[in-house]
Amino acid sequence: MDFIREYANWFYLIGAILFILTLRGLSGPKTAIAGNRYGMIAMAIAVLTTFFVADSPVVWMIVGAMVLGAIVGIARARTVPMTQMPETVALMHSLVGLAAVLIAVAAIIHNNKLAELGPDLLAANGVNFHEMSKVHLFELFVGCFVGAITFTASVFAYGKLAAKKWAKTISGAWVKPVQAIIFLAMLGFGIQFFLTGDMTAFWAMTGLALVFGWVWIAPVGGGDMPVVVSLLNSFSGWAAAGIGFTLENNMLIVAGSLVGSSGAILSYIMCKAMNRSIINVLFGGAMGGAAVAAADAGDKAPRNHRSGSADDAGFLMSNADSVVIVPGYGMAQGRAQNAVKELANLLKEQGVTVRFAIHPVAGRMPGHMNVLLAEADVPYEDILEMDEINSDFPATDVVLVIGANDVVNPAAKDDPSSPIYGMPILEAHKARTIMVIKRSMATGYAGLDNDLFYNDKTMMIFGDAKKVVEDMTKAINGSGH
Ligand code: TAP
Repeated sequence: MDFIREYANWFYLIGAILFILTLRGLSGPKTAIAGNRYGMIAMAIAVLTTFFVADSPVVWMIVGAMVLGAIVGIARARTVPMTQMPETVALMHSLVGLAAVLIAVAAIIHNNKLAELGPDLLAANGVNFHEMSKVHLFELFVGCFVGAITFTASVFAYGKLAAKKWAKTISGAWVKPVQAIIFLAMLGFGIQFFLTGDMTAFWAMTGLALVFGWVWIAPVGGGDMPVVVSLLNSFSGWAAAGIGFTLENNMLIVAGSLVGSSGAILSYIMCKAMNRSIINVLFGGAMGGAAVAAADAGDKAPRNHRSGSADDAGFLMSNADSVVIVPGYGMAQGRAQNAVKELANLLKEQGVTVRFAIHPVAGRMPGHMNVLLAEADVPYEDILEMDEINSDFPATDVVLVIGANDVVNPAAKDDPSSPIYGMPILEAHKARTIMVIKRSMATGYAGLDNDLFYNDKTMMIFGDAKKVVEDMTKAINGSGH
């Protein structure tokens, strides 16, 4: 095992490269499985190397904790439904935050205990002890409070996404001043600990950070939680990197920084696709409320829409040259992905070109539609991102919108008074014929009416996504095309 100790940094370097390849692999559906494998190998290298590098590890404790963790992790991974993925991820981030706090606390208590024994006694027993440097205290201070905020904020995000009663959204004029007071007090105690090493200040800082994590995230609306989860992912990475410095573990510093920066980039991409700033998500209150108010203030005159049957729609599509399917939250809600795949296959058999158009924030979590379509075995080459397909809409015969609403709302392009003005959309309104499957004329997540549904070229097909799509397939089969 001396070999592993001696070459530990080389092993860590290999692990770090594999982690980078992991992120690269996970950026596309075709390479995602390979990416996951790189991640597993990198993690195994990291854990094993750290195990052998540690000074006199308590083997039974470490192995026991790993076995327990593996049992819980495997059981959860096998049973969690796709729809509960965001809250599961939030819960996992909370554990990273908690680990960062516990490690910081353990490092400080350990250091204080050694200091109490005194340098002479330690030297006599061959222990080389140094007072904690300011840099070290700073790492602990940052790692601990970022970890504490991540912990309680993630627990709240989990509760909110899992619709737990205890995760109540808070609102009111008092929220922001209270957030500011807690934050400043936390910083104050942190600085005192940093300057004096005073343990009371350390405990006060940690306690306030735990409270801050909760009051910071509790006002954010449920629909914005995916952005928050992605941001907390970033935080958990930075907390881990901070602790990597404390433990002098290069692997943890690199892996933590990778998680921190990739989480930050993902949060940015999500905010950009919703045309919102991260500040607005975190401190602007729930989206939807403002939008509904704006919509309510507008003209309430009834508008006409055209509705049709699944049979009509099936007939039209089987006679088209090209069909683009735009899935949205309703496809996930109605678990229609397999039925959609069957419909697409049938149309292809009839010689129709069928492609899927994916908006970056369709559904309720990043990659939501991609995951569902992959689950239904839709070929990757049929799935196109917004930028790849938008220019093709004018030449498309039929666009079939399945449970999508905001991501095809033309107001985002041509109504400067709309709350979603400026958000990039899938330009379905430019196609020759538009068909929309949804259950009613109800609004989507942003709470806005959608002009697309009243367009002369649009046919609304009302019903549950899965049922309507199955009926379309039956109609095409029955028509003997
Ligand atoms: P939405 O705008 O939310 O619209 C979904 C539509 O699906 C609803 O209008 C609903 O209409 C319909 N629907 C629901 N259940 C259905 C079912 N069983 N069968 C048929 N239709 C059903 O969805 P979208 O277009 O995917 O847009 C996503 C929205 O979520 C955006 O505003 C985005 O900013 C927001 N958001 C996304 C994310 C991520 S990361 N994806 C994160 C946070 C927020 P009916 O009730 O009439 O059926």
